[in-house]
Amino acid sequence: MSFLNQPRENFGSKLGFILAAAGSAVGLGNIWAFPYIVGSNGGAAFIVIYLLCVAIIGLPVLLAEILLGRTTQKNPVGTFQALSNSKFWHSVGAMGVLAGFIILSFYAVVAGWSFGYIFEAIRGSFFNFENAQSAIDHFNSLTHSPIWIVGMLALFMILTMSIVAFGIKQGIEKSSKVMMPLLFILLIGVMLRGLTLDGSSIGLKFLFNPDWSVISGNTIIIALGQAFFTLSLGMGAMMTYGSYMSKKDNAVTASVQIVILDTSIALIAGVAIFTAVFALGLDPAEGVGLIFHTLPIVFSKMTGGYFVSIIFFILLFIAALTSAISLLEVVTSYFVDEKKWNRKKAVFVLGGIAFILGIPSALSFNVLADVKFFGMNIFDLVFYLTFNIMLPLGGLLMAIFVAWIWGFDKALPELKKGAEQLFEKAGWQIYLWKIFLKYFAPVLIFIVLLNSLDLLDFITNLFE
Ligand code: PHE
Repeated sequence: MSFLNQPRENFGSKLGFILAAAGSAVGLGNIWAFPYIVGSNGGAAFIVIYLLCVAIIGLPVLLAEILLGRTTQKNPVGTFQALSNSKFWHSVGAMGVLAGFIILSFYAVVAGWSFGYIFEAIRGSFFNFENAQSAIDHFNSLTHSPIWIVGMLALFMILTMSIVAFGIKQGIEKSSKVMMPLLFILLIGVMLRGLTLDGSSIGLKFLFNPDWSVISGNTIIIALGQAFFTLSLGMGAMMTYGSYMSKKDNAVTASVQIVILDTSIALIAGVAIFTAVFALGLDPAEGVGLIFHTLPIVFSKMTGGYFVSIIFFILLFIAALTSAISLLEVVTSYFVDEKKWNRKKAVFVLGGIAFILGIPSALSFNVLADVKFFGMNIFDLVFYLTFNIMLPLGGLLMAIFVAWIWGFDKALPELKKGAEQLFEKAGWQIYLWKIFLKYFAPVLIFIVLLNSLDLLDFITNLFE
């Protein structure tokens, strides 16, 4: 029998699915981006807005995405082809696959730094720092080297490809079952160290005591973008993982569990990082460099910092790896399902192309630093394009597709599979899902998108 006749793989268990999907969700978005975004946007008040975005938009769209994949048991392009005849909707699936490719290319650059920083931590590099500037200089000396940055990108991509090559059960599910619990334990360890530092309460206040005066329209845009990115929404990663989910499993509770895991890990990372940053009197609003500039200084000054720094960069690396495998799986599943490639060939060809696409992003920290488009270097440009435009647009279109095109008449019976008991009791939860998906998500995401494209200013000016 040729491999073409074999049935498509499924996750072995509901737990396997949840850990893999949570692995996709929990990543650099939680541990690198969330703390620095919170730090630069005023702390607790931002967190409240972010939690609202996750609950009102993130969770409903996540459930819609998983449901689409589980219904058709296909990749994003195949999913839209199975449910609609319109070329437009097929191209939404294709945009997702493309977005996955682009995200992987720059994601792997930062993931590569986290890999490289494990070795910096082991070598004890952070203990030579005299002041904050020396941490920045050290980071720059590494990222200014094309060999280091492209080398780390290559190593990280090879690790990602080696997991995806083994397939869903043997590769993604098995590795997530080991890596996710490990990540959780390591993170709790780092958080406990942060909480036991003198002065840790200042960090907790910053995180949990809102100052509403710092909130602006921009805060909501950033919070929504972050909600999409951190839950891996809007480009078909969750659809692809959903397509390997058994219809016997409950997609509703799985979605809730994924959101809870992702949100708690972001918050725990926030506690771990800000207790330490404030206890040592450093700047919470350091921005993108918070983890690579500020934390190494924190580690160098605290008792036990040598071990904490190694643990921290290992957990950052694990978080990035379980997300990168989901990004590569999206394109891989497309070529395996639609183009009938064998998995190993798909993984190596596509991983290779993603690596090549990542090189310009990596080089925008050194030789290509002066190449700018719309005032952004290549790395910032692809980040902006995916984070602010492609993911919200994809999420918007998926919400519209499920609520208005495919329709709840067809979606609800699918959703019920594996969730029969829940459906007997839960009238209002399902009702809320429908309302959020049909009205709230499309309207809010649309406003945010207009704003990202600077069209909102243009329109409001028209009326002034
Ligand atoms: N959710 C991942 C993170 O938080 C990033 C990601 C986005 C992964 C989109 C897959 C798809 O780091």
